[in-house]
Amino acid sequence: MLTPDFTPFPELKTKRLLLRRITMDDAAAIFFLRSDETVLKFIGKEPAASMEEAKAFIQRVNDAIDANESIIWAITLQHNPEEVIGTICYWRLQPENYRAEIGYALHPKHWRKGIMKEAIVEVLDYGFETMKLHSIEARTSTDNIASGSILEATGFVKEAHLKEEFFFRGEFSDTIIYSRLQ
Ligand SMILES: CC(C)(COP(=O)(O)OP(=O)(O)OC[C@H]1O[C@@H](n2cnc3c(N)ncnc32)[C@H](O)[C@@H]1OP(=O)(O)O)[C@@H](O)C(=O)NCCC(=O)NCCS
Repeated sequence: MLTPDFTPFPELKTKRLLLRRITMDDAAAIFFLRSDETVLKFIGKEPAASMEEAKAFIQRVNDAIDANESIIWAITLQHNPEEVIGTICYWRLQPENYRAEIGYALHPKHWRKGIMKEAIVEVLDYGFETMKLHSIEARTSTDNIASGSILEATGFVKEAHLKEEFFFRGEFSDTIIYSRLQ
């Protein structure tokens, strides 16, 4: 059985990035990522309606980190660690299967600069080497070309195409499941 331990919080560094813990001071950036229609386009969630919702989210994810149930990092640039430009997480942990799902979102002004690829590579290394995951899953909408491409660019393999699996705003849509083994 997997027994993840997120204490002390594992800050991760890459060439350009610092992945750190989210705090209440990041509420405005988290609110943006959870309410901007461009970011949410293929995520299938209603936008956050208020800063209070963003703060409740921060509280929830930090409680889950303390309980070793899931982990989320704020993505920041090393030269400006105060400004959160995205998030990346492992959630839906299945300790008995040594498996977790990865999720990520980036502020559109930073798209297509290789930032999420850099973050995913580092977080995969942490997942396999430190958390001891055996497999990592990712789910995307078939229409989310950027997410599918980045997963293939980081070694994920398409394993399933679920037809009309997801219902949102009156429409059914397809989901692709990708996974990567250790
Ligand atoms: C998906 C997302 C995280 C990509 O982040 P990013 O930092 O722009 O991606 P990168 O620059 O690291 O791209 C790495 C590779 O992914 C692919 N890629 C990224 N964006 C792409 C796009 N819009 N179209 C096609 N391919 C794309 C390319 O292969 C790219 O390699 P290249 O730059 O050599 O062409 C970003 O678009 C995003 O936050 N989207 C909204 C949230 C979201 O959909 N999250 C995923 C939910 S499943």
